[in-house]
Amino acid sequence: MSLASPPNPKRVTTRTIQEMKDADIPIACLTAYDFLMARTLDNVGIDIILVGDSVSNVFQGNNTTLPVTLEEMIYHTKAVSNIVDRAMVVTDLPFMSYQVTVEEAFRNAGKIMKETRSGGVKVEGGKRVAKVVEKISGEGIPTMGHVGLLPQSILKYGGYQPRGRTEEEAQEIIEDAIALEEAGAFAVVIEKVPADLGKRITEALTIPTIGIGAGPDCSGQILVTHDMLGLYEDFQPRFVRKYATLNDEISKAVSQYIEDIKNRSFPNESESY
Ligand code: KIV
Repeated sequence: MSLASPPNPKRVTTRTIQEMKDADIPIACLTAYDFLMARTLDNVGIDIILVGDSVSNVFQGNNTTLPVTLEEMIYHTKAVSNIVDRAMVVTDLPFMSYQVTVEEAFRNAGKIMKETRSGGVKVEGGKRVAKVVEKISGEGIPTMGHVGLLPQSILKYGGYQPRGRTEEEAQEIIEDAIALEEAGAFAVVIEKVPADLGKRITEALTIPTIGIGAGPDCSGQILVTHDMLGLYEDFQPRFVRKYATLNDEISKAVSQYIEDIKNRSFPNESESY
């Protein structure tokens, strides 16, 4: 792997992302749904901020991504993209905003682009959504694909088991990823597949792959920020590396605050006027 330093552009674009893949520079991606988190991620140099429909789970408290609406995705994208200077912001098209017709998908992707400062959209699925990707990206909207485990289809599969474990299913996922590239996607997220399949897909594509539980050979990696910071502890897949235990930190801080109020040690003299 190359140790060349990143291009450090003023703004990360589809071109930067492609240049990073071509130069074998790993692409670092995380999710954000609000300005404070987005600003922190941007300040420390994250390349892509995904306003993911995982907002449904980790912000709204739903047990799937299905309930979040287009209007809510727009609301969160505005909060994120208004503060971000460098990272590329990508917004998930939520369930039912792109599946009915290609025209409706384009209208909804266009609405995100007109009403927010998002840099692109993401859709789940492969061959099934190739026409949608072709239309949206053909009209100039950077479009990211998503193959492997598809959270919007979770009820059909009945769970979050890894995908692509049989050669037949692996082959199907590779074909899906190729269909997305041919349709004009600028990158493809690969979720929860065996590491060797992540590698095979990455080798089969010229556009970057972004892995989440897809092994070390993808062009970049993404995690849900609330998972890697230990804020959302309801769901802990093995691919999440925990970089902090913020839920514990917050619980400790708030418990101390409550105690300080109860024992009348807060506020003290220097905290009063
Ligand atoms: O919604 C999301 O956060 C995502 C990532 C898990 C890739 O799609």
